Amino acid sequence: MSAPLYEADIDLGPLKRRRIALIGYGNHGRSHALNMRDMGVTDIAIGLREDSPSKAKVEADGFVPVSLAEAAAGADIVALLAADEAHRAIWDDHIAPNRPPGQALIFSHGFSIDYKLIEPPADCDVILAAAKGPGGAVRSSFEKGGGLVGFWGVHQDASGEAEAIAQAYLAAIGCGRAGVYPTTFKEEALADILGEQAVLVGGMCALAREGFEQLVAAGISERMAYIDTVHELKYIADLIHERGIHGMYAAISDTAEFGAHEVEGPIREAVRPVFEAIVKDVTAGDFARRWVADFDCDRAGLYAQRAKAKDHPLEAAGEDIRKASARRAGPPDTPS
Ligand SMILES: NC(=O)c1ccc[n+]([C@@H]2O[C@H](COP(=O)([O-])OP(=O)(O)OC[C@H]3O[C@@H](n4cnc5c(N)ncnc54)[C@H](OP(=O)(O)O)[C@@H]3O)[C@@H](O)[C@H]2O)c1
Repeated sequence: MSAPLYEADIDLGPLKRRRIALIGYGNHGRSHALNMRDMGVTDIAIGLREDSPSKAKVEADGFVPVSLAEAAAGADIVALLAADEAHRAIWDDHIAPNRPPGQALIFSHGFSIDYKLIEPPADCDVILAAAKGPGGAVRSSFEKGGGLVGFWGVHQDASGEAEAIAQAYLAAIGCGRAGVYPTTFKEEALADILGEQAVLVGGMCALAREGFEQLVAAGISERMAYIDTVHELKYIADLIHERGIHGMYAAISDTAEFGAHEVEGPIREAVRPVFEAIVKDVTAGDFARRWVADFDCDRAGLYAQRAKAKDHPLEAAGEDIRKASARRAGPPDTPS
C-alpha cells in the first residue's frame, strides 16, 4: 500500500493560481468552499441552477453565486459537486457549451466518468478528488482541526499538472490532515457504490428490518425489537469506527461475541450471491443507467420506494423511543 501524503507534502500553488467554480452548494459544495477559503484559496465562484434554494446560504457565507453557464465560462477549474444523476445534463447544457479550452474538471465521486455519463474532450484535465465521507463531515472535522481521508485519481492529464491539482484540491479541503492516497475513477466508483448498497446502507437496513420483523413475529414488543436491532447500531458502529471489528468484539460481552462468530459464517454464505450480483450490476454500469433513467423520470422509482419504506412499523417504534428520550432530557438549559 502506498504511503499517504500529508499537508506539509502538498503545494497549494496549483489551486491558488487558478479560478475555481464549485457547481452545487449542498453538503460537499458548501464544506469544500468554506474549507478552501480558510486554507487561503480565495478565487471561488459558486455555480447554482436557476431558482436554487441554496442562493441565500451562498450569499450569507460570503461567496458569489453565479449561473451554471457563468461558472463554466469564468473558471480554470470546475468542480462538479452537484448530485451525480444531474451531472450529464449539467455538462451537456451548461459546461460543455461555455467552458474555455483547457479547463480542468474535478469530481468527488468516480460515477460520472467511470460509467461514461460524461465524456470530456481531450483538452480537459479530468480529476477525481474524493473526500471519503459525508459532506457535512468535511467541514465539521476541519473545524476541529482534522479532515477526512482523501483519494485522488487522474483520468486525463491535458495540462501536465492534473496530479498536482488533484492533491492541492484535497489538501485545500482538509484531507491533507488525515492522509491523501492515489486511486482510479473505476476503483472509487465501485468501492463507494458496493459499500453503500451492500453494507453501509442497503445491507444494514435489510438486516435491521429483518431482525425487527423476526423479533416481533416471535412475540417481542416493537419497542424492544427496535432497540435491539436498530437503536443500538450506533454503539456498535462507534466501536468499529474507533477500534476496528476485532477491537469491537473485544469491547462487547463474550456472550455477544461467541454467538456472533457462530452466525457470521452462515449470514455471509447467504448474502454472497447477492453481493456478487451487485458487483456485476455496478461494474457493468447497469445500476448507473437505471438511476439516471429514474432521474430523467423525475425520480418516480426512488420516491415510490421511499414512500413504501416510510410506513414500515419499525419507524413508529423508533419515533416513540426518540420522543420519550427527548421528553426526559428536556431542553438543554433546563435547571436540574
Ligand atoms: N467521495 C465520497 O465519499 C462522497 C461522499 C458523498 C458525496 N460525494 C459526492 O459529492 C457530490 C455532491 O454530493 P452531496 O452529498 O454534496 O450532495 P447534496 O448535498 O445532495 O447536494 C447536491 C447539490 O447538487 C445541486 N443540484 C442538484 N441537481 C442539480 C441540477 N440539476 N443542476 C444544478 N445543481 C443541482 C443541489 O442544488 P440546490 O442547492 O440548488 O438544490 C445541491 O446543491 C456527488 O458527486 C457525490 O457523489 C462523494
